[in-house]
Amino acid sequence: MRLEGKRALITGAGSGIGRALAIEASRLGMTVALCGRRAEPLHATFAEMKPSGHLRLRGDVTVPAVRRGIRDYLWREWGSLDVLVNNAGLVPVGPLSCTTDDELERVMLTNVVAPLALSREMLPLLRRAGTSRIVNVGSVLGDIPYPLFAAYSASKFAVRGLSIAMRRELKPYGIGVTYAAPRATKTGASDAMSQLVEPLQMRLDDPYSVASRIWRAVGQDLDSVYAKGPERLFVLAQRLLPKIVDRAISTQMLDERVRDYLKKTHEAARSRNVVHPARANGREPKL
Ligand SMILES: NC(=O)c1ccc[n+]([C@@H]2O[C@H](COP(=O)([O-])OP(=O)(O)OC[C@H]3O[C@@H](n4cnc5c(N)ncnc54)[C@H](OP(=O)(O)O)[C@@H]3O)[C@@H](O)[C@H]2O)c1
Repeated sequence: MRLEGKRALITGAGSGIGRALAIEASRLGMTVALCGRRAEPLHATFAEMKPSGHLRLRGDVTVPAVRRGIRDYLWREWGSLDVLVNNAGLVPVGPLSCTTDDELERVMLTNVVAPLALSREMLPLLRRAGTSRIVNVGSVLGDIPYPLFAAYSASKFAVRGLSIAMRRELKPYGIGVTYAAPRATKTGASDAMSQLVEPLQMRLDDPYSVASRIWRAVGQDLDSVYAKGPERLFVLAQRLLPKIVDRAISTQMLDERVRDYLKKTHEAARSRNVVHPARANGREPKL
């Protein structure tokens, strides 16, 4: 797909990878509808974009009425849509024992249900464009399930799966699907896991290099785009030799800094009154 002159809707465009995707899109000559819950970050992104009739749509994509509102608004304003980027996402981290039901529901609603439902709402606009594309932002943890990221990994496995299913289903209508799997990237979301960056040997990519890689993949109509680097090898190892990945991750979990992180997280959960089975009978968790 030639990107210049195309119209894109990007969710989560106020910060991090979404902001970089929006700014990069405007540099490539695209017109963008920026979506996010907070006005201020959307405005900050907007201010950095080349002027070209971009739109700011404030709203929570987990709310059905908001998704329908975005569809109706874009139908009136643009009449069609070339690219939908499902980028908005939550990146929760921490032991499962310290996770509440509400947090689990929130991550699945935001990372899995919203992209599916928003894509469905946008189908009439995407079909009207003739040739169009949906980009689903996943993660390398959608291939490599990680401890302390159980809910997140599960959500991104789902995003990878739904991307393949959607690609097969929507191909006859001229709608392509690109699954993007960045590795750890320097954003507000990664700040929350800063204590784990070194012991888990994460390399933090710059969001702008992630964004240009994704747009390049869209320009080339690719089915998927993964981060460069050793993570690609791990993705392959996870599929072919998962025991090797088990061993490498077990070693990381024994790191003193991870154990210190777990101790602090359990203390914080106790003060939030999060009850987990290991404490329910008065015993402290081993971790
Ligand atoms: N950072 C990483 O290490 C990393 C690595 C791989 C993949 N990813 C993926 O990249 C995507 C972006 O993450 P990021 O790191 O850029 O995080 P981020 O800086 O926290 O950005 C997430 C954006 O999504 C928006 N958002 C969240 N919930 C929303 C909702 N319900 N409705 C509308 N907008 C919502 C937030 O804005 P508001 O709060 O204003 O709504 C925010 O601008 C996510 O899908 C994430 O899983 C991130």
